[in-house]
Amino acid sequence: MAGASARWLVLLLVAVSVALAAASGKRERWRSGAVGGQVVEKERRRVVADAEAGTVTAVDVADAEGTAYRLHFISMDTGALFLPVQLHADMVFYVHSGRGKVTYIEEESGEQSSLEVERGDVYNLEQGSILYIQSYPNATRQRLRIYAIFTSEGINADDPWKPKVEAYSRVSNLLKGFETEVLRLGFGVQREVAEAIKSAKTPPSIIPYNPQEKGDDEKPNWTEDIVDALLGVRDPEEFLNKKKKDKHKHKEKGKKSKSKAFNFYSGKPDVHNCYGWSKTMTNKDLDALHGSNIGMFIVNLTTGSMMGPHWNPKATEIAIVTEGSGIVQTVCSSSNSSDKSRRGRHHGDERRGPGGRGDEGDKGGGGGGGSDARRCRNSVFRVKEGDVFVVPRFHPMAQMSFNNGSFVFVGFSTHMGQNRPQFLAGKGSVLQVIGKEVLSLSLGQKNSSAVEKLLSAQRDSTILSCISCAEELEENAAEERRRQEEEERKEKEERERKEREEEERRKEEERERKEREEEERRKEEERERKEREEERRKEQEERERKEREEERRKEQEERERKEREEEERRREQEEREREQEEERQRRKEEERARREEEEREREEEERRREEEEGGGGRGDEPEREEQEEDGDEPPYRLSKKLKKRYRVRSG
Ligand SMILES: *[C@@H]1O[C@H](CO)[C@@H](O)[C@H](O)[C@H]1NC(C)=O
Ligand SMILES: *[C@@H]1O[C@H](CO)[C@@H](O)[C@H](O)[C@H]1NC(C)=O
Ligand SMILES: *[C@@H]1O[C@H](CO)[C@@H](O)[C@H](O)[C@H]1NC(C)=O
Ligand SMILES: *[C@@H]1O[C@H](CO)[C@@H](O)[C@H](O)[C@H]1NC(C)=O
Ligand SMILES: *[C@@H]1O[C@H](CO)[C@@H](O)[C@H](O)[C@H]1NC(C)=O
Ligand SMILES: *[C@@H]1O[C@H](CO)[C@@H](O)[C@H](O)[C@H]1NC(C)=O
Repeated sequence: MAGASARWLVLLLVAVSVALAAASGKRERWRSGAVGGQVVEKERRRVVADAEAGTVTAVDVADAEGTAYRLHFISMDTGALFLPVQLHADMVFYVHSGRGKVTYIEEESGEQSSLEVERGDVYNLEQGSILYIQSYPNATRQRLRIYAIFTSEGINADDPWKPKVEAYSRVSNLLKGFETEVLRLGFGVQREVAEAIKSAKTPPSIIPYNPQEKGDDEKPNWTEDIVDALLGVRDPEEFLNKKKKDKHKHKEKGKKSKSKAFNFYSGKPDVHNCYGWSKTMTNKDLDALHGSNIGMFIVNLTTGSMMGPHWNPKATEIAIVTEGSGIVQTVCSSSNSSDKSRRGRHHGDERRGPGGRGDEGDKGGGGGGGSDARRCRNSVFRVKEGDVFVVPRFHPMAQMSFNNGSFVFVGFSTHMGQNRPQFLAGKGSVLQVIGKEVLSLSLGQKNSSAVEKLLSAQRDSTILSCISCAEELEENAAEERRRQEEEERKEKEERERKEREEEERRKEEERERKEREEEERRKEEERERKEREEERRKEQEERERKEREEERRKEQEERERKEREEEERRREQEEREREQEEERQRRKEEERARREEEEREREEEERRREEEEGGGGRGDEPEREEQEEDGDEPPYRLSKKLKKRYRVRSG
């Protein structure tokens, strides 16, 4: 039953982590291209958990290859419990102080193991493991402080300045994400158990915990146990142990050999003299780091001492200052003269990223940036307790303590293989191997006497006396910084001035441009207006012309019409006159005819009378004829002729 449940739990967790990994895998691998040293101050750590019984803070760093690492600083009060988490990344931890017990269940074996840990202990856990930590309840002891470094593809895929993937997730959160029914069936427990799990308020990740206070007489209650264990109300170990009581006996032997942490203070240091001591260990040296490519070192410099100039051919050093303060100098292996490289960075702020302070040429925050902007520069850092400093491989460095106190730092080194720090000083120095002739040439010396002195003056140890070195370097660095700040201030002013000028110039240009445009627009409008007017004028003219033509045409027509009418009238008049004339003529004719008729009739009458009277009576007739001759001659003549004719005829 218990075994099945545990496996179920593991399956759930694996499923979740696979999903998380898939989600993060899509992101582009972060590449810093960062060179040079880097410092993240204690104040700039990210707070991951903040509970009464303890805190967890985090710092993300990256090496020169762009591989990201996450550091967690777990600090627990005495008598506290760091509730179970599942690791999403490989973890190497170092116990800085206090005593406690680290319990873990490795994914592969599904077995629970636990480690008694104390100051100096180092251990490695693989991702997928479930882990919880108990600090022993003893008020006189120090807090349990653990420094852990996490490495994984998930963390690495992230931009270390903006972490999204967590190094681990809380088991309670993973479980509570499921529906009650799923929990009930999945674990084969009663509904109320599942409901209790779902409904309980999630406690802080570190809670006060003192198993001694509880009576051991309580009867085992499976229902309570699962709730308590998962939510951290009771000792999870107790619960898990109970379920494995039978197995435990068999596994005891095999477990012991593995569950032993390495302690830095147990053996002899690599180097030890009156200026300090140092000790290094790699995964080759120790079972505790087996399967990890993280190595560790610890250096204690007494007052006025120096860890001689050296560099790591294969490892990046990520160190945490655990005591005092000191100076770290890094040299850019590939930089031009310091003057030139210094000029290469004008981005001012030495503190970069989420608190990084370093000598690469650009602010880390962007993560991108051209390679030019990230020029390495030699640098001197002052670091204090709690600060993290990173020195990439190939970067020669030296660490120095002040005259008034010791300087202790613990570090993780990322091994790309077998790393052997290369010291410039000392008998084993590479400089010795190169030889004074070649070295003289490479240092631009005319003859080898200076180099000879340099080489022969070298001391045996890598840890050396260096009275007031740190102070002087700091002084110089401060001076340098002041100078630089001054320079930068000036440059900034200059830049701002130029920008202002540029701005003004641009504005001026803009104004001119606008004016020009305005002018052109106006001209254009004017032109258009004129064109329109011209057009209108032409149209008008055309219209007028047409009107005039029309008028003329009409006039013409009118005139013609009138002429025609006049003609008509004249013709009519003529006609009328002719007709009148004819009428008159006709009437005259008729008159004459009538008169002739009358004449004839008279003549007839007269003749008859004459005939009757016998030819008298004719004397007065010519007189009448003569009277008539005056007034109307032609008809008279005509009548005369007619008279004659009539006479002729009648005669
Ligand atoms: C607490 O520490 C003191 C002093 O180191 C020691 O004498 C005592 O036994 C410790 N108590 C427990 C419960 O570990
Ligand atoms: C176990 O705990 C649950 C919940 O507190 C309770 O209901 C149950 O009676 C307990 N069982 C025993 C055997 O004590
Ligand atoms: C470092 O050395 C100083 C002086 O020898 C000593 O007082 C101090 O306890 C040492 N620190 C560690 C962590 O070993
Ligand atoms: C070194 O300086 C020279 C001249 O200023 C320049 O051409 C060269 O790119 C620089 N090299 C590096 C690595 O900065
Ligand atoms: C030690 O000396 C340095 C440099 O002179 C100074 O900054 C620092 O405050 C001193 N530390 C202590 C503990 O006096
Ligand atoms: C080497 O050069 C230094 C000055 O650069 C000079 O003082 C010294 O005499 C020279 N030694 C030899 C052996 O030429």
